[in-house]
Amino acid sequence: MRALRLFAALVALAGPLVARATDAPHAASVIQNSTGCEDCHMLHFAVGPTLTKQADNFTVCTSCHNNLAASFTFGGKWYSSDQGTPGAGGHSHHWNTSTTNATYGATPPTSSALSSYTPGNVLQCSTCHDPHPASAANAPANVHVSVATGTALAQSGGATSGATMTLAVGATPVPNGYRIQIGPAANQFQVSHNARYQSTTSVTWTSTYTITAANTAIPLSAAGDDPALSVTFSTMPTATGGYWDFYVSYPFLRMAAGEGELCVSCHAARNQTHTDVESSTTYGWGSGKPFSHPVGEAPNANGGGYDLSTPLDVNGAVQGAAGKDANATNDLLLSPTGKVTCVSCHAAHNADSNSQTVDAR
Ligand code: HEC
Ligand code: HEC
Ligand code: HEC
Ligand code: HEC
Ligand code: HEC
Repeated sequence: MRALRLFAALVALAGPLVARATDAPHAASVIQNSTGCEDCHMLHFAVGPTLTKQADNFTVCTSCHNNLAASFTFGGKWYSSDQGTPGAGGHSHHWNTSTTNATYGATPPTSSALSSYTPGNVLQCSTCHDPHPASAANAPANVHVSVATGTALAQSGGATSGATMTLAVGATPVPNGYRIQIGPAANQFQVSHNARYQSTTSVTWTSTYTITAANTAIPLSAAGDDPALSVTFSTMPTATGGYWDFYVSYPFLRMAAGEGELCVSCHAARNQTHTDVESSTTYGWGSGKPFSHPVGEAPNANGGGYDLSTPLDVNGAVQGAAGKDANATNDLLLSPTGKVTCVSCHAAHNADSNSQTVDAR
């Protein structure tokens, strides 16, 4: 009811808006004692800048992100001093400065998906992120599973079942949060996508599965679940009530980033091909359009024959092949269509420019 009233208030406030729902982890599947929309929004005084519970966008995000429970470390904490100044320090993209910056070749976003969220022509977390839907299509390479896959997982809580659970996640899973709980019988489990609601009467169980045998993968194929996921139990559980919590999601991006689209929406001058770099007279520092590494093209686009088709890892082995180092956060990723993009070399956050460290992303 509170959520419904809030939604009515938001609609009344902001005019004819499409209904907004939130995906995990910004949902009652993950947020302990969640109140739904009111985790971030306030009903009373909900006019103008007080649409959200905190005074400004950074404070809305960090009110949770700098106070997450110990098991929630993804992305880490956020401090203004983390913002990068090339050549000086920091490990994150800026989030609080003017959208125009001649030094770093930034201009206001060309995409209205972003420009609507730059109040006063200033960047904020919500310029690049929409905290409601975690669109898989906008960041297919950034799928994130909150627990280790292919590994025996101890229970998150509940009565001891005697079993461990192993999770497998196939291609392009749907963003969602899960509680897998043994019951109603010891050879069954149920699935909830909102088990952490503050009001326990609001918790719903979408499906019941039968555990036919130990060490047998059971796809989560019931309606509301996702057949790309499957779970395996190490032994037949001996008691009900034990549960495992996890979520699968993507970084809540407002527009596609996989081919570098998000970056060049604001850094359009750097959207250069090898032709621009090699033969254009309209580029170069004096023109206001600094030369950049080519993007939007596959290795060897210029036929020069000096690019490797797969980048090497820092230890000299081919990335993804035997002998690569164990650190996936230093990999130079080609886009889903095999091209070099801004995010082949850069990451928006938690990028300390040191290939020896494992970054928190
Ligand atoms: C994780 C925090 C969070 C949650 C949970 C959340 N919102 Fe939002 N919402 C925001 C922020 C931040 C904004 C402001 C976006 C901006 O910067 O303009 C916003 C803006 C909105 C807007 C204005 C249109 C827009 O997209 O900017 C509507 C409507 C809205 N939220 C509805 C909802 C509803 C309904 C729910 C519950 C299903 C909900 N929100 C849950 C953070 C959240
Ligand atoms: C009500 C609490 C809450 C608020 C407010 C909140 N978040 Fe989150 N967010 C979370 C939790 C919990 C996670 C999961 C963290 C983890 O697993 O370690 C998360 C994860 C994320 C992720 C990563 C999702 C993934 O799996 O790839 C992004 C991106 C994100 N938040 C952005 C934002 C932004 C931007 C804001 C402000 C507009 C915001 N969040 C506000 C609770 C919150
Ligand atoms: C200029 C665009 C931009 C801004 C501004 C921005 N982000 Fe992000 N964020 C991204 C992109 C792109 C990703 C995808 C991950 C990547 O590229 O490594 C991401 C990923 C994340 C993640 C997942 C963890 C990680 O490091 O990948 C979290 C959490 C997050 N952002 C929170 C925030 C918060 C909180 C703010 C404001 C303090 C913010 N972001 C501002 C673009 C942005
Ligand atoms: C919404 C506009 C916007 C988007 C989207 C955006 N940038 Fe930026 N970028 C800026 C602005 C503005 C600055 C200058 C910030 C400052 O230093 O004041 C900047 C600065 C930078 C810097 C210098 C470090 C810093 O934070 O000052 C790098 C590197 C960078 N951007 C890379 C990227 C990459 C890679 C992407 C895509 C993941 C991206 N940008 C997406 C606007 C944007
Ligand atoms: C092939 C790898 C690579 C690609 C692709 C790449 N960058 Fe960079 N970028 C770098 C490196 C390395 C630096 C640091 C250069 C230095 O220290 O002189 C850098 C520096 C920057 C800076 C800091 C200011 C400067 O010019 O030194 C910005 C802003 C930036 N890149 C934006 C982008 C954007 C936007 C894209 C996509 C259009 C992009 N980069 C594509 C590797 C890359």
